[in-house]
Amino acid sequence: MPSPSVMTVKEAAESRRAIRKYLQEPVPEEDIRAILDQVRLAPSPNNFQPWRFVVVRDPALKKRLEPAAENQRQVISTHCLIVLYADMEDVLAHREETVHPGIQGAARERALAAIERAWGEKSVAVRQRFAHGISYIALGYLLLAAEAMGYRTSPMLGFDPEQFKAILELPPHVTLPAIVAIGRGDEPGYPHHRHSVDRITRFI
Ligand SMILES: Cc1cc2nc3c(=O)[nH]c(=O)nc-3n(C[C@H](O)[C@H](O)[C@H](O)COP(=O)(O)O)c2cc1C
Repeated sequence: MPSPSVMTVKEAAESRRAIRKYLQEPVPEEDIRAILDQVRLAPSPNNFQPWRFVVVRDPALKKRLEPAAENQRQVISTHCLIVLYADMEDVLAHREETVHPGIQGAARERALAAIERAWGEKSVAVRQRFAHGISYIALGYLLLAAEAMGYRTSPMLGFDPEQFKAILELPPHVTLPAIVAIGRGDEPGYPHHRHSVDRITRFI
């Protein structure tokens, strides 16, 4: 059984930090599944859920990815790397999946037609830009869910998406919002250094 979440969201947000050194322990697949089971509940416009994941555990494959991720030490030290990618073409090809089963008949047809009207004429690049941004919601969920399950993470943008796509045999149109090292941490990380609420907020 996966270990239960024992932290509140507040506790997970407060304790989470980027960890770049991991214990040499594999992460059980059931724990990754339990984390992604929470991530998949993230909200998205039209319920499109454009996020997709590749969970890389194969040591040979991970070794090939390391130079494409600037040989960052968290990639080298972790057993498990989660590649987050956005795929709006997959969303639109299976748009039926995104419409709530409670919406049936004429209302369902209208919902599907509205998706076609909104997205049918747009370029693949414009669709992807949208899906890419929305997928960061999933990244936030992932970092907090992993922390609450006792795992530490390191989100990264320091990688070459084209090399990752080639090595992982992903479709050419997809984009990669982030890769995430995950495992049992072997360093404390840095204390948070953040703006205050007042610095980033205006109450009116
Ligand atoms: C989308 C994203 C990409 C990041 N890319 C990298 C990276 O490539 N390498 C790295 O060492 N840290 C990376 N970071 C970690 C940030 O530097 C770190 O989250 C930030 O400095 C705040 O520190 P903390 O997470 O420990 O609180 C990334 C963070 C995010 C959210």
